[in-house]
Amino acid sequence: MSDKEMLYEGKAKILYKGPRPDTIIQYFKDDATAFNNVKKGTITGKGIINNKITELVMTRLSEIGIPTHFIERLSDREQLCHEVQIIPLEVIARNTVAGSMAKKFGLEEGLKLPRPIIEFSLKDDDLGDPLIAENHILALEIAAEDELIEIMEMTAKVNDFLRGFFAGIGLELIDFKLEFGRLTDGEDGHFIVLADEFSPDNCRLWDFKTREKMDKDRFRRDLGGEVEAYQEVARRLGVSLETEE
Ligand code: TMP
Repeated sequence: MSDKEMLYEGKAKILYKGPRPDTIIQYFKDDATAFNNVKKGTITGKGIINNKITELVMTRLSEIGIPTHFIERLSDREQLCHEVQIIPLEVIARNTVAGSMAKKFGLEEGLKLPRPIIEFSLKDDDLGDPLIAENHILALEIAAEDELIEIMEMTAKVNDFLRGFFAGIGLELIDFKLEFGRLTDGEDGHFIVLADEFSPDNCRLWDFKTREKMDKDRFRRDLGGEVEAYQEVARRLGVSLETEE
């Protein structure tokens, strides 16, 4: 990787300058963090699995008309993407109460919501990614109104599709986090695109039959078996885990 110019190192990925203008390379690490970097560890092989699951999910989403930054997977741990200016929001969709929502409102995890929720957190580690309302986003000019509407419409469509997609492999999509960006070159007439990744690092997946958690909560909550859970999600998705490493 030394020949590539590093742009940014995040908790689970490194971004490098891509081979063409307006492209970047996302490199997926095995590093895992939780509670805003308070808990640190590694999930062996996670980077490879998340790279390949993200490839599959982004490809399926683009097939249903969701514009994404994804171009192609380059290797076990790298994918080529369009460069975007990330909108500093964590866009969270919830179908079932879990995690911070259960804690905040004193609700039991597993309570099914009669309608999905889309909520936003400000992407700011120093502030601990606080929950932010649409009015704050607009008044602070974090996103314009038309952008926010597009982001909410895309998130609802992603949720509708992925609930069925995961249900087809026996997994209940409890909640997930998306990030969106503005394309730097505005290719294909799209400006706002889905960016970042979609993997068990940023969603909750529960086995329909056993109710077992098949996502990063295994690491967050010290449940053990995180490598096996990520591998099982990949296996059910038909993602090959044969590696070049
Ligand atoms: P939460 O219940 O902790 O708010 O998380 C909701 C969803 O968002 C869950 O699927 C995990 C994901 N998530 C991230 O991807 N990154 C984060 O920093 C947090 C807090 C949650």
